[in-house]
Amino acid sequence: MRGAGSLRIAVLASGRGSNLQAIIDAIEAGTLDATLALVLSNKSDAPALERARKHGAPAVFLDAKPFSTKSSDPKEKQAAREAYDRTVLDVLKQHDIGLVVLAGYMRIVTTVLINAYPNRIMNIHPSLLPSFPGLEVQQKALDWGVKVAGCTVHFVTEGVDEGPIILQAAVPVLDGDTAETLAARILVEEHKIYPRAIQFHAEGRLHVEGRRVRIDDR
Ligand code: GAR
Repeated sequence: MRGAGSLRIAVLASGRGSNLQAIIDAIEAGTLDATLALVLSNKSDAPALERARKHGAPAVFLDAKPFSTKSSDPKEKQAAREAYDRTVLDVLKQHDIGLVVLAGYMRIVTTVLINAYPNRIMNIHPSLLPSFPGLEVQQKALDWGVKVAGCTVHFVTEGVDEGPIILQAAVPVLDGDTAETLAARILVEEHKIYPRAIQFHAEGRLHVEGRRVRIDDR
């Protein structure tokens, strides 16, 4: 059935939304038993919002500007992030969200959200964590000279890109690779493992034990 699963997911995305599209496609194909109940973006022109509308899902732009601070004081910056996340949390509650899915969401998530959704916020990152957390990681993988790269789906905790790992997929690094060709090869795998990880959650098969995530057999 199209998007009729009882797990109500919110996808938070800042850009292109190809991972969101993979999730929508899996829902429409019936391989992901969830309802896309909300797409929220901090960018008004994020293509992700249009992808949501096409699927018939609520698409919300939440401007971060009113919450931004010019201060360089880390405490004030953190307070501004938390204020934004309180508004995000209100929207998530309004839509009765059970799982929050970060997909190219280029903001640091604070404890305001993390404590409200313990082990119920996932992120996808285009490296084999714990190698290469942060930004521009495909270039960092090339610069380091690794032979294998990949992607990671993990639960979100306070430390950026540090949460318990749910699924990973590896790809080879080829001699002629640029950051773009490597990113494209990794993205193919992202689109496979993200819907799969969400489906595991929908089936109640994910169990966080310390840093490890055990996946129940069917
Ligand atoms: C993806 O490669 C995702 O792994 C990465 O941003 C891209 C978003 O693409 N996320 C991060 O780097 C998070 N640290 P998409 O908008 O097409 O899904």
